[in-house]
Amino acid sequence: MEKTIPLTELKRAIKIAPSILGGDQSNLAGALDIAVKGNADQVHLDIIDGHFAPNITFGPGAVKALRKRTDMKFDTHLMISEPENFVDKFLDAGSDLFCFHAEALTGERFDALYSKIHARGKVIGLALKPSTEMPAWVEQRLDKLDTLTVMTVNPGFSGQSMIMSVMPKLERITQMLNDKGLPIDIEIDGGVELETLGNVVLRGGNVLVAGAGVYYRPDPVQAVGILREKAKQAIATGAP
Ligand code: DX5
Ligand code: ZN
Repeated sequence: MEKTIPLTELKRAIKIAPSILGGDQSNLAGALDIAVKGNADQVHLDIIDGHFAPNITFGPGAVKALRKRTDMKFDTHLMISEPENFVDKFLDAGSDLFCFHAEALTGERFDALYSKIHARGKVIGLALKPSTEMPAWVEQRLDKLDTLTVMTVNPGFSGQSMIMSVMPKLERITQMLNDKGLPIDIEIDGGVELETLGNVVLRGGNVLVAGAGVYYRPDPVQAVGILREKAKQAIATGAP
């Protein structure tokens, strides 16, 4: 079998994060309610500006309206080129986790965003596209992160297949975070389904974003729990 992280080193709690981009775009509230009813740990909100990635989704107005429905952690994945222009709007809208793309930032710009977000009691994450290796400025700031997101599809759309060539990078990241004793979440975003999740869970991924994996299923509410059970089973048995 391919190399995986020893089971004893998989210490992070499994969390399921339905991505409402995979839900009915004319009924985002309904998609959020499915995540809540399914007892998801957090809900993943994909913000895309048509510039950083080739799609346009929803903005702070939608996030603010959704915020009224639940206290669930809003995991806001900002696939936008100039996040500084929107961070205040998403803070006011009620985002909890601000996950920026490393490709869109520098260390100095990250530091300014970090100060602003922490001053409001919220947390920050960084995402890496499938082909992006961790830049030195990110490695130097890992202790400031709540979440490191490893993208396993190229940003833009729900329903793509997991890119398996990302697996060695995921292993390196898990190893690095474990060696540094950093218990931060390792989020996997893209193509997470029942059939694929074992591959990432056994390499240390613990927050499983699922668009199609939840919303394309016949019973999306039930799918949340089924994904969680499958992930726990993979960790218990070592079989993907
Ligand atoms: C892609 C988004 C993902 C996407 C995941 O740009 O960041 O969060 O919604 O969808 P699935 O799980 O269907 O790949
Ligand atoms: Zn996402």
